[in-house]
This record gives sequence, structure tokens and C-alpha cells, in this order.
Amino acid sequence: MEHYAIKGGNALVGEVEIGGAKNAALPILAASVMTDESVYIDNMPDVRDTNVLLKAMANIGVMEKRTGRHSVVLNAANVSNLVVEDDNIKKIRASYYLIGALLSKYKRAEVALPGGCDIGCRAIDQHIKGFEALGAEVVIEHGLIKTRAERLMGAHIYMDCVSVGATINVMMAATLAEGTTIIENAAKEPHVVDLANFLNSMGANIKGAGTDVIRIKGVTRLHGTEYAIIPDQIEAGTFMFAAAVTKGDITVKNVIPKHLESIVAKLIEIGCQVEESDDCMRVVASKRLKTTHVKTLPYPGFPTDMQPQIAVALGLSQGTSIVTDTIFENRFRYVDELIRMGAHIKVEGTTAIIDGVEKYTGARISAPDLRAGAALVIAALAAEGYTTVEDIHYIERGYEDFHLKLQALGAQIELLTDDKEFQKFKLKTG
Ligand code: UD1
Repeated sequence: MEHYAIKGGNALVGEVEIGGAKNAALPILAASVMTDESVYIDNMPDVRDTNVLLKAMANIGVMEKRTGRHSVVLNAANVSNLVVEDDNIKKIRASYYLIGALLSKYKRAEVALPGGCDIGCRAIDQHIKGFEALGAEVVIEHGLIKTRAERLMGAHIYMDCVSVGATINVMMAATLAEGTTIIENAAKEPHVVDLANFLNSMGANIKGAGTDVIRIKGVTRLHGTEYAIIPDQIEAGTFMFAAAVTKGDITVKNVIPKHLESIVAKLIEIGCQVEESDDCMRVVASKRLKTTHVKTLPYPGFPTDMQPQIAVALGLSQGTSIVTDTIFENRFRYVDELIRMGAHIKVEGTTAIIDGVEKYTGARISAPDLRAGAALVIAALAAEGYTTVEDIHYIERGYEDFHLKLQALGAQIELLTDDKEFQKFKLKTG
């Protein structure tokens, strides 16, 4: 099984190019089925989740032409099947974006119930409520969400909780509905805005994305477009925290600083220097980190997808910090692994109480989910001695060339496929 071997202790220094946002790419790829014309998508991250989604789309008849590692032309004129049920699709969360996209265009879709990281209950009641408000029937049968509508009619929909997925799905379904839809208490994440911009570039009429009220005036058809996906705020944040944790000096390139405001605020609070310029952000950490308290919140609050990374940093700070995850109830599964590396953390419900230690020590650990996996790799890079990180397939879901980008910053990390290679790694790095 593939795993990472890591020797910690090097400060990470240098520049790293940030790729396209996974969480924007997924709905944008799915929304490409909403036109019969060709759609050219650039700055697409080459990660497992996008590849699984593209494969599922190919299986229902979407023509795909890769024009480069990060660009693809999609054409959905010959979609022949509205049932999306391949083995891999249920492993990714974003499979459900095909429901909104197919329902919008074909008034029918059957998609395997979504999986994704096991970080909490991850209900889909708000998606269903939205589809039903637009006039669709929705049933869950044999592991599929089945939905169909005679016609979709615009509606006024109040989301009971702020949900990225439900906002995106309802926005897609409403795009080709008759009349106007208003989504209240909408999610404001950058990827919600990116999808709205993408749909508008195809002829949709969506206003207000990025605020908590989105107005969608239905149009009868969408046309082809060329579109570049926004940079990945979470990939950028992960490298910024890698600088903090390893007492390094990292410049993340190709970012939108506005999307990183809550992350920058916390880095400054814990004692890092942060310099911003155009589309770059430099993080320098030279002293022992300071404590802070963190509560994850919907955008523009501190992202739940950065919670494990900041917890890893606070685990090395001087004093006690409190981290509360208000979005997902099961997002501290990495804490047991971090404790094996010497951290002092106690979890009570959705709160972690972190007493900073002076150092982590290398151990054999495994990634419990995508973001926590990346955070544990960073902990290992700061730790004394050797760490092996197993179950890295989670990390590959959302980080492109993670170990190669870290290597370029001076990290001693290798992707191994065999336990025997570990001795060689030790000899090389010893
Ligand atoms: C997306 C992101 C994920 C991120 C999360 C929060 C993708 C592919 N994934 O996940 O990386 O951690 O946003 O920023 O973009 N909820 C309900 N009912 C619903 C929908 C959601 O109760 O119908 C709850 C969830 O259980 C959770 C909260 O709302 O507690 C937020 O979930 P949501 O924003 O929908 O997350 P995802 O879209 O699944």
C-alpha cells in the first residue's frame, strides 16, 4: 500500500504554486452537462476526486478531451444515461452535484448517494428540500437519490442551515427552471461564487452569489464557455500552516488573498509574519508559536477544512488553545494519531483542548480523512525522527503532487509502495 515516509526537522522554505480549487472544480465539471455545447475548463486540479467525477461523467456519455494536465474540453450533447452509479462515484461527496445539474437540464436524475470523508453525519435534507421546492419529486431507493420533475418552477427557498452543497445544487437546478428562484441563507464560499460565475458565463442569470441571498432567473438554455477555476484556498492555507509548523518561510503563489483572510488573521495571531502581494502570500515563522482559540464557521469564518492544520500548529504553541468545529461533529479523528506523536489534546464533543508541547516525535500513523491527513503530514515534517503516514489515498483526493510540492520546499518526504523501501529512505536521509 502506498504511504509516505517522512523525516521531520527541516524548516520548509521556498515558493509553491497553488492549483485550482477542488471544491470549485467539482460543481463546475458537473455543471458542464447543462449545455449541449463544448465547455473548456482550465486550472482544473489533477486530483482523485475530479478524476472520479470525470470518469462518472464519461460513463453517462459526456465526451471528454484532455488538452493538458489541468485543462479539459467537455461536451454533453450525447448524454445517454441519467443514472450515475459507478463503483467510485459513491465514494466522493460531489457526486450529488450531478443531481442538480442533470435535473436542471433533463428534469430527471438518479445518482448514487454521496460518500466523501467520514467527518460527520453530512445530511442532504436541504438539497432535497430545495429540489422539492422547485417542483421535483425526490425518493431514495436502492442506494440512489432518484429525482424527476414535469417542469421546474422558480421558488423562494430558505436554507435551514448554511450548506455549500445544497446552495450549489439548488443553484444549478434553478438555473434552467421557469421563473425566479431566491435562495436565502445561502453559503458564501468562494466556490459558490465561482460556480455562479461559470454558469453566468454560459448564459445563466444568477445574482448575489457571495452574499446570503442568491437570485436566479431561469433561462431556457445554456451555451458553451471557456473558464478558469479559482485557486484552491485550502491547499494554499495548508502550505501556509506548513510554514508556521516547521518554522519555515513559504510563499504561496497564484492565490486570491481575499479568500485567505481568516487564515491569515489566525497565522498573525499565533505569531507568524504574513506578507501579501498581488497573487502571492508569504508566511514566515521564526519563533515558537502562540496560542489562540478557533471556531470554524461558514465563509468568511475560519474554514472547517483548515481545522486540523491549525490544531497541529497549536499543538506546538506555548500554552492552551481551544478549537471548536461547529460544522462537522466528527472532525477530530486525527487527534488520536497526533497524540501518538506526543501531542497533548483532549477532545470533548466538538471541542479540542490543546496544551502545546515543545515538539512532536515521529510515529506510524494513518490519515483518517483528506484534510486531517494533510495536517498529520505537516506535523510529521516538524517532528523529531521518522514518521510513516498510511491511507494517503485520502490526501490524494484533494492535493495534487502533495509530496513533490513539499519536497521542493525542502521536506524529506517520499511516497513508498513497499515497507522494504523504508530502510532505503532511512539510509538516504539518516
Ligand atoms: C463542502 C466541502 C467540504 C467542506 C464543507 C464546509 C465540497 C465537495 N466539500 O462540503 O470540503 O468541509 O463544504 O465548508 O465542496 N447539512 C445539513 N443538511 C444538508 C446539507 C448540509 O444538515 O442538506 C449540514 C452538514 O451536516 C454540515 C453543514 O450543514 O454540518 C455544512 O455542510 P455543507 O456545507 O453542505 O458541506 P458539504 O457541501 O458536504
